[in-house]
Amino acid sequence: MKMTLRTGALATQTTPCLVLSVFAQEPLSGAAADIDRASNGRLKALWEKGDLSGETGRTLLLYDVPGVTAERILLMDFGKSSALTRANYRKTLAAAINAIQQMHAGEAVLALPAILPDGMDAYLAQREAVMIAEERIYRYTHTKNDKHAPKMPLTALALWLAEDADPAVAERAIAHGAAIAGGMRLAKELGNLPGNICTPSYLAAQAVALEERCQALTVEVLEAEAMAALGMNALLSVARGSRQPPKLIVMTYEGGAPDEQPIVLVGKGLTFDAGGISLKPATEMDEMKYDMCGGASVLGVMEAACALNLPLNLVGVVPSSENLPDGDANKPGDIVTSMSGQTIEILNTDAEGRLILCDALTYCKRFDPALVIDIATLTGACVIALGKHATGLFSSDEALAAELLTAGDRAGDRAWRLPLWDDYQQQLDTNFADMANIGGREGGAITAACFLSRFTKEYRWAHLDIAGVAWLSGKEKGGTGRPVALLTQFLLERSGLM
Ligand code: BES
Ligand code: MN
Ligand code: ZN
Repeated sequence: MKMTLRTGALATQTTPCLVLSVFAQEPLSGAAADIDRASNGRLKALWEKGDLSGETGRTLLLYDVPGVTAERILLMDFGKSSALTRANYRKTLAAAINAIQQMHAGEAVLALPAILPDGMDAYLAQREAVMIAEERIYRYTHTKNDKHAPKMPLTALALWLAEDADPAVAERAIAHGAAIAGGMRLAKELGNLPGNICTPSYLAAQAVALEERCQALTVEVLEAEAMAALGMNALLSVARGSRQPPKLIVMTYEGGAPDEQPIVLVGKGLTFDAGGISLKPATEMDEMKYDMCGGASVLGVMEAACALNLPLNLVGVVPSSENLPDGDANKPGDIVTSMSGQTIEILNTDAEGRLILCDALTYCKRFDPALVIDIATLTGACVIALGKHATGLFSSDEALAAELLTAGDRAGDRAWRLPLWDDYQQQLDTNFADMANIGGREGGAITAACFLSRFTKEYRWAHLDIAGVAWLSGKEKGGTGRPVALLTQFLLERSGLM
């Protein structure tokens, strides 16, 4: 989608669709009041008929408004201005973009509300509008004829700026919004692809394709032999049950000074998780194609970093494998020696995410990282704890935890911190190895994080459990692109670009 800025009188804007904000049951304000004056009170008269009931997310399409050049006017109802939340703001904009795509417009000029939700400034409101538009435009078509495609997809959106608005801020909002949305789109698409297409090799090929698109990016893919030479037996043990070769994808983005320590992102790239010998129940097992969403989010962030030209060094590491039952697969009770030298008793082969991550986390030491963040659809327990709304954040680094929480709040891609106290560590004790790969039902998301913490002692580290947020189920089933926005926000703030 092409994004531009428009200024000047609204009534004379040439466009197939002019989108205006109203707070129903409140007098017209801002852009809508301007148009009302230009149309000699026509807007007010229509609005007074009460068709906009004050329900957030409702839209009303008007034709032939006198004194206005635009072919159509779309009113979007943000409800009560005093009750405007970020969620309502999003919901209403999404409804407006949907409505535009059901017309024969293709393009629109959008005047955002003059009153914004608490905690949102003009920059964030504009950025969010760009992201919502891109989000609404996305359709999954790789393996499906898009029968319900919109009448005419939105191809160009102009943000209208009032006289007192700062165009430099809006330009920045558009650039950042487009970059984040682009990264989210990549993450969503990779997540939505089925396991028989999106294999570890496919993920690796996508990383190589990204390298081609991004100047500052170099990609290296380690094969099983290289992993064996490094002693990555935990990772390799998960891949044993699969006919698909595992891959360790390493993406290096150089935007900072050559001697600057990189930020390292490690994403779980489990392209299908059947549970292995500890087989999962059949219900909803298809959703385990999304078990590579951590890895996909790392690819998405790398793409966003390139688009934004972030002035820092970044490394993305994606251990990728399938987890399937097989005669040669991991068995409960098997013990492997990880790359760190620590031994692990695999009491449940379905706790495979931590097995592929622990070796990737040990591998990260070679980058002398400023900090490491891993992103993983790691535990069903995290979904039980936080539901589908918040990413689970774990870190014993107070400053890093605070930075990530703030970034999530700002980006509207929230995380919530859970404890990583030593009290939980003993749940991983076993008589036969340095640790077990499971810690019982109690605090399952926490003991998974505790497991990872044993491989991250030599650098600053945080863990994001995205099991609840990476995709939606039911009628809306699909990847969300989370937490690309949180992570990109974090990087923007670290770059001093905020
Ligand atoms: N990929 C799953 C976690 C998951 C489950 C994410 C459901 C989203 C929805 C992970 O590999 C897994 O199977 N974890 C087990 C761990 C358990 C065996 C300790 C789980 O959560 O049940
Ligand atoms: Mn599993
Ligand atoms: Zn898994």
